[in-house]
Amino acid sequence: MCGIVGFVGNQQAAPILLAGLAKLEYRGYDSAGLAVRDGDGKIEVVKAKGRLKVLAEKTNGGQALAGDCGIGHTRWATHGEPSETNAHPHCSDDGNVVGVHNGIIENYQELKDKLLRKGYQFYSETDTEVAIKLVDYYYKKYLGTPVDAINHAMVRIRGSYALAVMFHDYPEEIYVARKDSPMILGMADGECYVASDVPAILKYTRNVYYIGNMEIGRLQKGAITFYNLDGDEIQKEPVEITWDAEAAEKAGFEHFMIKEIHEQPRAVKDTLNSVIHDGVIDLSEMGLSDETIRNISQLYLVACGSAYHAAMSAQYAIEDLAQIPVRVELASEFRYRKMILDEKGLVVVISQSGETADSLAALRKAKSMGIQTLAVVNVVGSSIAREADHVFYTLAGPEIAVATTKAYSTQLIACDVLGVQFAKVRGTIDENHYRELTEELLALPEKIERILQDKERIQWFAAKQAAAHDVFFIGRGIDYAISMEGSLKLKEISYIHSEAYAAGELKHGTISLIEDGTLVVGILTQSSLYEKTVSNLVECKSRGAYLMGLTTYGHYSIEDTADFVIYIPKTDEHFAASLAVVPLQLMGYYVSVARGLDVDKPRNLAKSVTVE
Ligand code: F6R
Repeated sequence: MCGIVGFVGNQQAAPILLAGLAKLEYRGYDSAGLAVRDGDGKIEVVKAKGRLKVLAEKTNGGQALAGDCGIGHTRWATHGEPSETNAHPHCSDDGNVVGVHNGIIENYQELKDKLLRKGYQFYSETDTEVAIKLVDYYYKKYLGTPVDAINHAMVRIRGSYALAVMFHDYPEEIYVARKDSPMILGMADGECYVASDVPAILKYTRNVYYIGNMEIGRLQKGAITFYNLDGDEIQKEPVEITWDAEAAEKAGFEHFMIKEIHEQPRAVKDTLNSVIHDGVIDLSEMGLSDETIRNISQLYLVACGSAYHAAMSAQYAIEDLAQIPVRVELASEFRYRKMILDEKGLVVVISQSGETADSLAALRKAKSMGIQTLAVVNVVGSSIAREADHVFYTLAGPEIAVATTKAYSTQLIACDVLGVQFAKVRGTIDENHYRELTEELLALPEKIERILQDKERIQWFAAKQAAAHDVFFIGRGIDYAISMEGSLKLKEISYIHSEAYAAGELKHGTISLIEDGTLVVGILTQSSLYEKTVSNLVECKSRGAYLMGLTTYGHYSIEDTADFVIYIPKTDEHFAASLAVVPLQLMGYYVSVARGLDVDKPRNLAKSVTVE
């Protein structure tokens, strides 16, 4: 996820580009850059590592760059660490083609190899540089127009992208293209704008064009033209934006948290696509070759908060699939415990921010003990990512809401992928089972989407629970791990006391807290444990509890026990957490909204906990 803006008109472009980028900083903020051109002069490129203000200072608020045509970018790293070199815009070898990109190019290595064979050189680690040089390659090869060159490149690129490109031979023009990444165009008073998202241009126009997948747009002073993949011109009608500026930043959602909940299908899909190619998991890029995996005797999953809950779920799944011992530790405990670690073990530190102090300290401790480490991290170039031996990047994009949703979901997916790959290498599953599991993983984004379509029922139920005092989440096995995350999601943003309990453990003390009307949420995704958890729910009901059941379609007998039931699609039960967590996230969210609380910034919490 990155932010793109472009402008061609009668005013100085750079200040407009910087103002637009400022509205898109929520899409990424590890580096930024501008490419601006004065008439038919050279395209000037300025880049800076860090937040946008560093670029603004470097260009004197844009005043230092003359020219009324330009593109800008704010980056959230996916390939290559945050640095000035990796920041966009990127240029062809001769500087003839300059462009910015948002998205992930899955076959960038294959395209890079092709371009290297054709004599191209690469200065950055980004997939964007590959895309720009591919456009340049086709531009020179076919001696055609920019539209022809981009069309040829689009046919070769797999993945998602929004591209904005300037050609030295075409002054005062910007070319854009997209597939599966957002991009809008707008025009006002003969001046044209392009951006990843509405807030960047809302100040100038409310009439925007949505460019379709595999389409190209050409921006000139006073004109926007659209083309299809054949290079034929196509007509589009502008759409009027009615949101206010704040709502626009959240893509029309009321809060970042609900927006991020809806981004989960995309986040999960991107993470899967980064490691599954043609149905085969490949972890070699992160240094986890089959041989490395074969030599690992044991896994230690270490994390804090929700990331710890992802680890809890992973423990059940990986141990069962790969038949390897898995131990889960809270990072804050791990760092001070006198643990006996197997020297052939792998310590996996899971962290969205990659900066959590306890998780970083745990990683350093493991390294000091000579144990191999793997970071499952969302922020490229973060401390944990830099210091670990291997890194598995989750591709959730920037998460703004303090309560994690999409990053947690991608952590689950990363762990599932590890489980399946370890199982394959260790020979605990056969080829058919491996294929079924990878297919099932790839089907998860669509199933998450289906759950999101049913959110009104959860919203209705959540509104009724807004006055609750205590809520219990119970389950067994993976369902216990899901309960822990469901309970945290509710309590951290609604301030309602809530506990997660292993369902069989309630009767050892906690059941005395159940009173008339206490809400008990039972998670029942594991068929072998279904009857057991139902019995525990019945025990609660007979003490007055009000019951919500969360189970898969088909388990309709739950309605004999529970007062309210949410059904989720079936999947391989090792992966159930990815689906079951979604209604629980929605429930936490809607309870908080019903209580009128600050959902995105709950009291006493920070997004990244860099203190002990
Ligand atoms: C809860 C939440 C936290 C984080 C925890 C670890 O919604 O977001 O519990 O999961 O602070 O943070 P990271 O993953 O950045 O290490």
